[in-house]
Order: sequence, then C-alpha cells, then structure tokens
Amino acid sequence: MRLVLVGPPGAGKGTQAQYIASNLSIPKISTGDIFRANVSGGTELGKLAKTYMDRGDLVPDQVTIAMVRDRLSEDDAQDGFLLDGFPRNVPQAEILKKMLADWGQGLDLVLELVVDDDEVVRRLAGRRTCSQCGRIWHVEFDDKQDDRCDACDGTLFQRDDDKEETVRHRLEVYQEQTAPLISYYADEGTLVGVDATGPVEEVTQRAMDAIRPFLG
Ligand code: AP5
Ligand code: MG
Repeated sequence: MRLVLVGPPGAGKGTQAQYIASNLSIPKISTGDIFRANVSGGTELGKLAKTYMDRGDLVPDQVTIAMVRDRLSEDDAQDGFLLDGFPRNVPQAEILKKMLADWGQGLDLVLELVVDDDEVVRRLAGRRTCSQCGRIWHVEFDDKQDDRCDACDGTLFQRDDDKEETVRHRLEVYQEQTAPLISYYADEGTLVGVDATGPVEEVTQRAMDAIRPFLG
C-alpha cells in the first residue's frame, strides 16, 4: 500500500501514522521528523531547514524532494510506505507522481484528516514529543503530568514551531499551499476524507475502514 496522509498542522497525521503504518507493516516516512532529526544532529540540511521551520514556512522544494527521493529508494520502502507531511504543495505532488511512475509505481490512496482550526490550536499547544522514540503525546488528552515518555521513559520536549504565532502562520501556509492538494487528489480519484475529531483510537478505526477497500 502506497499511502499519503494530508491535513493541517495538528490534525493528527503523526499520531495516526504511527498506528496505520504499524497495522499495515509499512514504513512511516515523515518529512518533518527527518528534518527535525537533522536539526538535532546539526547537519547542513538541518541548519538550512531550521531557518524555514522556525518561521513555519516550507523548506524549499528542491531540498525536500531530494531527501524524499533518497528515502523512498531505500529497501524497506519498495513494497509500500506511508508519507506524512509530503507532498505539501502541488509541485511536490507532481514530482512525486513522476518519480513513482518512473519506478513503475503509483499512489493507492490519499487520506485527508479533517479537523477545524480551533481544535488544531488546542492540540498543538499541548503537544509533547519523546526525544528518544519519537512518540507523540498531549499534556491534557493523555493526562501527562511529568515530562517522561510512558513508552520508553525518554524525555519529552515541546516543538519550537508550536508557539501560538508560528502555529497561526503554519495554518496560513497550509491554506495557501497545501489545501490545493485536496482538489488535486480529488481530481486524480485517490482522495478519501476522514473525520479526525474524537478519540485517537476512533480516528484510527475510521482511517483503517477507509483504507481497507484499497488493500490489494
Ligand atoms: P511537520 O512536522 O509535518 O508538521 P505539520 O504538518 O505542521 O504537522 P504537525 O506535525 O504539527 O501535526 P500532526 O498532524 O502530525 O499532528 P500530531 O499527530 O503531532 O512539518 C514541520 C515543518 O517541517 C514544516 O512547517 C516545514 O517547515 C517542514 N516540512 C515538513 N514537510 C515538508 C515538505 N513536504 N515540504 C516543505 N517543508 C516541509 O498531533 C498533534 C497533537 O494533537 C499531539 O499532541 C497529539 O497527541 C494530539 N492529538 C492527535 N490526535 C488527537 C485526537 N484524536 N484527539 C486529541 N488529541 C489528539
Ligand atoms: Mg506531525
């Protein structure tokens, strides 16, 4: 299964990606996670990406696409993958389509996680991420009283781009640059929308119900 998750910042792409990818036994490929790993590793890519990420702007397409091409070329992605956060605009979608076609592949499904802006702000304000295993938590919804990961005991951190004004800018960037992908993929016939409100497990259930008809 070759799957893309699309939706505004805070929709729950990363949260759902960890469960969906594990259910389907495919790698979860998150461009945001790869950029953040490069930022903490102090690489040249990380230094470049950080300047854009801190403002809530998109990292230039050329850089992002080269990184995704490398990742999709790895062995574990040959029989399927779940992309979280890529493509992020129509030019990225066009290049992904061409890249996959050159490899004799194509996308099976694009899942849109649908949630309103107020919920997004609530979710991002309380988000914490594990610095060790990458698991995503929420201070209120997961009742996190301490800063340790329940899964691996790693330290939890708050993302630099989750400040309120940066979140607002990320939402604008989503509306301007990413939302056009919804009609792009609707025209391609690969788009399915999923209501992403309510408990995490219910959203996963809805997502799996939407995916099932597309499984080979
Ligand atoms: P990226 O990391 O992709 O950020 P994003 O799209 O803004 O999305 P988020 O990760 O903020 O939200 P999410 O939908 O994953 O929500 P989550 O599951 O964490 O990108 C970051 C930056 O990298 C970009 O701004 C850009 O600079 C750069 N970048 C990345 N990809 C790029 C690309 N292709 N091109 C160019 N630049 C790129 O959930 C949020 C919170 O809500 C969590 O606390 C979670 O616990 C909670 N939650 C989730 N589901 C529920 C639920 N059902 N109920 C209650 N709480 C919930
Ligand atoms: Mg994410």
